Amino acid sequence: MEKSQVKRESWGSRIGFILAAAGSAVGLGNIWRFPYLTGTNGGGAFILIYLFFILGVGLSIMIAEFAVGRRANLAAVGAFKKFDKRFTFIGVLGVLSAFFIMGFYPVVGGWALAYVFKSVTGLLSNQAAIGDAFGAFISGSYEPLIWMLIYLFANIVIVARGVQGGIEKASKIMMPMLYVLLIIIAIRSITLPGAGAGLEFILKPDFSQVTGSTFLAALGQAFFSLSLGMGCMLTYGSYLSKEENLQKNALIVTLMDTSVALLAAIAIFPALFAFGMEPAVGPGLVFVVVPSVFAQMGGLGVILSVIFFVALTLAALTSSVSLLEVVTAYLIDERRMERKKATYLAGGIMVITGTLSSLSMGVLSDFNILFGVGFFDFFDILTDKIFLAIGGMVIAIFVGWFMKKEDLKDELTNSGTVEFGLFEVWYAVTKYIIPLAIGAVAVAGILSIEQTALMIFGIVLIAVLAIFSKKL
Ligand code: TRP
Repeated sequence: MEKSQVKRESWGSRIGFILAAAGSAVGLGNIWRFPYLTGTNGGGAFILIYLFFILGVGLSIMIAEFAVGRRANLAAVGAFKKFDKRFTFIGVLGVLSAFFIMGFYPVVGGWALAYVFKSVTGLLSNQAAIGDAFGAFISGSYEPLIWMLIYLFANIVIVARGVQGGIEKASKIMMPMLYVLLIIIAIRSITLPGAGAGLEFILKPDFSQVTGSTFLAALGQAFFSLSLGMGCMLTYGSYLSKEENLQKNALIVTLMDTSVALLAAIAIFPALFAFGMEPAVGPGLVFVVVPSVFAQMGGLGVILSVIFFVALTLAALTSSVSLLEVVTAYLIDERRMERKKATYLAGGIMVITGTLSSLSMGVLSDFNILFGVGFFDFFDILTDKIFLAIGGMVIAIFVGWFMKKEDLKDELTNSGTVEFGLFEVWYAVTKYIIPLAIGAVAVAGILSIEQTALMIFGIVLIAVLAIFSKKL
């Protein structure tokens, strides 16, 4: 099979790659979802389990994805196909996961963007009405839909401009800004009187609330937050030069991601407790509690609120472009499409799924696609609770059992020119421990979660893909 003769794109610089990969990792997962999961899963205990999965599972999978991507020099589907056709389905599952995550992600991205403007147009003036205002906003038909479309449009513009000129450039500006903004808010939060209770909530583990589904939530969140399990980091690794030290870059990206999640928790919980609010409110947490907290701070609160939602929007944007890129890169590598056309096609489909998700919060809320959930939850639960973890498990199995150990060593030491002292540890963890650990967590989680039928549907879907995508 001949591939197009055009030279494959690559990153412009090391720092550009790191910021793009960290940009992919740091997103709504860190600032929107991590705090609300922490809030509903009992605080410190959830954070501890999460950190354990980040370091024990996530980091190794990220190294594996970088290695496979760079070795193949192809995005997800092409990479697995090149090494072993029986694993092509994992790339296909990745492309499907990208579509599913992009089925709901731009909806929340649109909310974040909307809240930048709502912060200055009176949202904060009536603190008691902030919760109702959020409910009314997201269940409306046109308003959230328009914000979602603007947000998605920004993604399409960036990805259409390519790896260096679009994704890398955008990340280089937005990532440093995000850090500065979050640090300002975190400092304000921990210096409020009464902030201690919030710090205690996130630092003192209470294991009485922990069940099998807590572990699944923490594992899924680790994958989601690090952009793993669906070939996203693999695709980013495929644009990386042969001189880069993969494991060092993986460690840097992981630490950056984790620091933003913890920073978000420090920005939110001390302030939340200082103002006597409830932590376990679910997905509305940042959109209700954060503005409520800021509403009690007068003029400064308005400014901080704008800063916060700008940061949230920027973080989301550098993540969702990586998801759009997974699909775009597949169309370029495997379907030999031109970049712009590929971006528009993928983006066009996302306009449809995003619209359905957005409307599922309001007019379509009684419409359940399958197993009693609407579009938004269908896309969210299937990816976060099943596809990413199972995808990560299969990637670990593939790397550990089906790739040559010498090839991996060669790739991770840049043909012997850089050290990887922990190679044997990484290899053993990836080959034995990770598949078993994910298997155990998946079983325990599926049994204790409410949506068992949906979970089983997800697994059957993966099995069907595994059987039929060999011929691709
Ligand atoms: N990691 C991003 C976040 O935390 C979301 C994301 C981007 C993602 N690319 C991904 C999640 C790939 C899973 C897989 O918001």
